Amino acid sequence: MSANHIALSVDSLSVNFRSRVFSKVKGVVHAVDQVSFDLGRGTTTAIVGETGSGKSTILKAIIGLVEASEGSITLNDVNFSQLNSRAASELRHHIQMVFQDPIGSLNPRMRISEIIAEPLVITKTGNKIDREQMAQEILSKVDLKPELLSRFPHQLSGGQRQRVAIARALIVQPEVLLLDEPLSALDVLVQAQVVRLLADIQKAGNLSYLFVTHDLALASEIADNVVVLYLGRIVEAGSVKEVFENPSHPYTQALLSAVPTADHKIESTRERVILIGDPPNPFDPPSGCSFRTRCPAAEEKCSIERPQLFDLASDHRIACHVVHQRSSS
Ligand SMILES: Nc1ncnc2c1ncn2[C@@H]1O[C@H](COP(=O)(O)OP(=O)(O)O)[C@@H](O)[C@H]1O
Ligand SMILES: [Mg+2]
Repeated sequence: MSANHIALSVDSLSVNFRSRVFSKVKGVVHAVDQVSFDLGRGTTTAIVGETGSGKSTILKAIIGLVEASEGSITLNDVNFSQLNSRAASELRHHIQMVFQDPIGSLNPRMRISEIIAEPLVITKTGNKIDREQMAQEILSKVDLKPELLSRFPHQLSGGQRQRVAIARALIVQPEVLLLDEPLSALDVLVQAQVVRLLADIQKAGNLSYLFVTHDLALASEIADNVVVLYLGRIVEAGSVKEVFENPSHPYTQALLSAVPTADHKIESTRERVILIGDPPNPFDPPSGCSFRTRCPAAEEKCSIERPQLFDLASDHRIACHVVHQRSSS
């Protein structure tokens, strides 16, 4: 991707959390470990992986809710770490986030009109009348009726609340939307409506989405590119076409084989890769490849050396010793 096609670039991002007991550091979790990827302008990248793999932490580091221990984040070629805090927070207005749980992320004491207009207040945009008008306009973009503006969050359905959260994120005309499992609190029919809405909004505004989900079928439907995380590290990444048609990391293969298909013929003949055991303790991950304790293909080298990402194809990166050996012999 050439530079002006990249909206957001994440380079060697690491985030560590220290767990303390009575102010004594008990352990360190490398929640995000040397993660790099680019988000193309007007495209969607899905981040997938089990609970605790670091998906939310990546989004929080991008938006400045947690501090990166290492690495850099670049929006339109401007590196956040080279800005003072005021300039960085102004630049961050171009990035907005939609959380998983709309009821938890919307202030229950504020009316919908105030909730939607709040980012305009924060960014000191327009006067009160301008803001009300902008709130009305954005509401119609997410297919909600103007009479909802005077209501409170608990008076709305789950789908309506998530549309409000999306409207609130869109009102400052961001370039990048970070979506953290935005559909998982919604029922299936409403999910499909919100997926369509997000696609329409993306097309109309050339928006870029970073979409966290544990639902691989959804990722393959909505995303152009996918990043597969295991214990904070990228194990496989690339275009959806490459990764889903030719999944090569044993972890991705296991995740994908757990996704049911509608095709009975495929369903009855395909081999399932079952993941054995639970994910390792994040305070004490395995040496070498952190997936090796659950990996059906693990060899001796996997416990000694940490596998680095290499290019399997032009649109396909993977970190696996076994695949590396096979592809280079
Ligand atoms: N504020 C925090 N303090 C300490 N540990 C955290 C904090 N937030 C997340 N973690 C840990 O970091 C890891 C990644 O968490 P998270 O990014 O929430 O994963 P995901 O979104 O993929 O489920 C987990 O081991 C989690 O327990
Ligand atoms: Mg999460």
